Amino acid sequence: MSSGADLATSYPSLAAVPRARLARFLAGMPKTVLHLHLEGSLEPELAFALAERNGVEPGSDAFPYPDLEALRAAYRFDSLGAFLDVYYAVAGVLRTEQDFVDLAAAYADQLIANNVRVAELFFDPQTHTSRGIAFSTVAQGLWQGLERARHAGVRVQLIASVLRDAPVGTVSDMDGVSAEQGFATMEEATGWATLGQLLDYQSTAAPERRIIGLGLDSYEKPFPPELFLGIYERAHAQGLLTTAHAGEEGPPAYVWTALRRLKVSRIDHGVRSTEDPRLLEHLARPHDAAHIVAAYGEPHRVPLTVCPRSNFMLQVFPDPTASNLLELLDAGVLACIHSDDPAYFGGYATDNYLAAVEWLDPSLAQLHQLARNGVQSAWLSAADKAPLLAELDAYFGEADALLGGGG
Ligand code: ADE
Ligand code: ZN
Repeated sequence: MSSGADLATSYPSLAAVPRARLARFLAGMPKTVLHLHLEGSLEPELAFALAERNGVEPGSDAFPYPDLEALRAAYRFDSLGAFLDVYYAVAGVLRTEQDFVDLAAAYADQLIANNVRVAELFFDPQTHTSRGIAFSTVAQGLWQGLERARHAGVRVQLIASVLRDAPVGTVSDMDGVSAEQGFATMEEATGWATLGQLLDYQSTAAPERRIIGLGLDSYEKPFPPELFLGIYERAHAQGLLTTAHAGEEGPPAYVWTALRRLKVSRIDHGVRSTEDPRLLEHLARPHDAAHIVAAYGEPHRVPLTVCPRSNFMLQVFPDPTASNLLELLDAGVLACIHSDDPAYFGGYATDNYLAAVEWLDPSLAQLHQLARNGVQSAWLSAADKAPLLAELDAYFGEADALLGGGG
C-alpha cells in the first residue's frame, strides 16, 4: 500500500479543489461510522410525523414545539446540556416499535447514501424504557429498520449506551429483570437494570441481532466514569465490548478513568486529551491488555471518535478552526471523524468530513489517514479490516483523477 505521506506529495492541495468536486470526492469515499446516536438522527420532519401518528400534541409538555420552525429555532446550543435537553424532549415522540423501525430505516438510507461500509451505532435504552417502552421493542424496531443497510452490504452493529446522569442503581436491579418490560420512571430504569435487560435480550436474540457493546453517554459533568465501574466489569465478563463518552466537556481525568478503570477499548470525543501530554502519549501507544485484544484481535491503540460538527455546535470548539483533530493526528492518536447526532448538528458522515476539510485544511495525506483511522477503530479483526483498507487506499489512489482537472 502506498502511505498517505507518499500521496500527499503527488496530489493537489485540497484548498485548490472546487468545493463541489471535493464534496463529490468525500461523498464517494468509503466510510466508517462509530459514533452515532440513532436518537440523534431523528430529523424534525419525522419527529412531527411520529408525534401526529402517536397523538402527541405539538406544543404540549410531551413535545414542547408547536411547529417545525419552533423546533428548528431550538437547535441553538451553548453546551452539551442545552442540546441534550432538546434531544430528550424530541425523543419522547418515539413510542412504538414501528417508530423505531422508521427512525432506523431513515438512518439506514443515510448509511447507504454516505457510502458507509461499517457502522457501530448507539442507542439509549433508558430514554425509552423509563417511559414504559420495553427494551426489546426498541432493539427489535431498530434492527428491523437497519436491515435495509445490511442488505446493501453495510456491516451494522448496535451499542447500548447507559445514561450517566440516570441512577446507577445496584447489582440487585438485575434480579428478574426482563427485556420485555418497560419502567414507570427513570428511577427504576437504572444502569444496572439496563444491563440486566441487555443481557436478557442477548439470551434470546438471533446472533446477527445481538448487541455488540456497552457505551456511556449523556450529561458528562459531574458524572465520572468510575460511577459505572461495576456495570462495566459485568459487561466485560459477559463478552460485551465497551466504549465511553469522555473528555467532551469533562476533563482528561475522565478519559483516564474510562481507560484504566472501565477498561474501554474506544473513547467517544476525548478531545480534551490534548490538555494532558501523558494521556496523549498513552493514546498514541498500542496496548496489549485482554480487553483491547478482545476488541481488535491484536494489541491496539485506543481510538478517539471525534465529531467535528458536534464539537462546533456544542461550543466545545466555538471557533471550529481551533479544533485539535489534526493535533491529535500529529501526536499519533488514532483519531477519526464521526457525526454524533446528525439531525441536530447539521450533517451526516460526508458532511463531517467536509466540515473538517473546510475548517482545518488538512492535506490529502491527513484526510487519507483520518479515513483509514475510521476503519482501524472499528471493532473488527485485522483480517476483516484488510479489504476495507484496500478499498480506501484504491480510492485515494484515484484521488488525482477525482480531484484534479477543471471544476
Ligand atoms: N447523547 C447524544 N449525543 C451525545 C453527546 N454528544 N454527548 C453525550 N451524550 C450524548
Ligand atoms: Zn456522542
